[in-house]
Amino acid sequence: MSKDVIIALDFSTKEAAMDFLNAFTGEKPFVKVGMELYYSAGPELVRELKARGYRVFLDLKLHDIPNTVKKTMAVLAGLGADMCNLHAAGGLAMMEAALEGFRSGGGSGKLIAVTQLTSTSQAVMENELLIGGRLEDVVLSYAENAKRAGLDGVVCSPLEAFAVKNRCGEDFLTVTPGVRFADGTVGDQVRVTTPERAGQLGSDYIVMGRPITGAENPVAAYERARKEFLGVN
Ligand code: C5P
Repeated sequence: MSKDVIIALDFSTKEAAMDFLNAFTGEKPFVKVGMELYYSAGPELVRELKARGYRVFLDLKLHDIPNTVKKTMAVLAGLGADMCNLHAAGGLAMMEAALEGFRSGGGSGKLIAVTQLTSTSQAVMENELLIGGRLEDVVLSYAENAKRAGLDGVVCSPLEAFAVKNRCGEDFLTVTPGVRFADGTVGDQVRVTTPERAGQLGSDYIVMGRPITGAENPVAAYERARKEFLGVN
């Protein structure tokens, strides 16, 4: 898999998502289907996107007891997504079970773990989640657990990508939301940086939603993100 920009299709209907994608007439972008769209449009949408030639990251962030996650992953694997995920906070046994389910269901894509959401700050982690220590250390520890469970990588902030690679190896994927253009708004994200800086820090995939979906010209915003992230003209 080579580095790329993943567009978060955070729409509430299939029609809105497809209308948005129809504007992209060149090479088909790598897209992310998250909870909002999946709960509205269902598994059929993932099959349809795959049939139309899109690469799909199914971002459902599973977090439950190991047996439930294992069986759910086996079902999701059948949809043919290129990437699926779960919460590292579910623990090692849950991640191992997820991988077992994913492979038994025929999943051939990447399975990655969310470390700490990019909307979480050090203060929220300490005061609300009652997790002590530095946020980066927590992310690194979760990444190590994910690697030990046999997963392919993690979702983290681009600001943590360099440290994760250092700890878990160059081949361990870092998929990073929390990316904003230098002249854009941050919204509810906290641990953010620009596409260019994410590229410098070694992120493999940046995930961008609102800076692209909410842009006046989404195709131009996507091309700008790719150019800044990949350093291409
Ligand atoms: O609009 P924005 O660029 O903030 O979208 C980021 C996307 O990445 C959202 O779909 C969000 O659910 C997802 N995400 C995230 N932080 C994580 C994992 C996923 O923002 N740690």
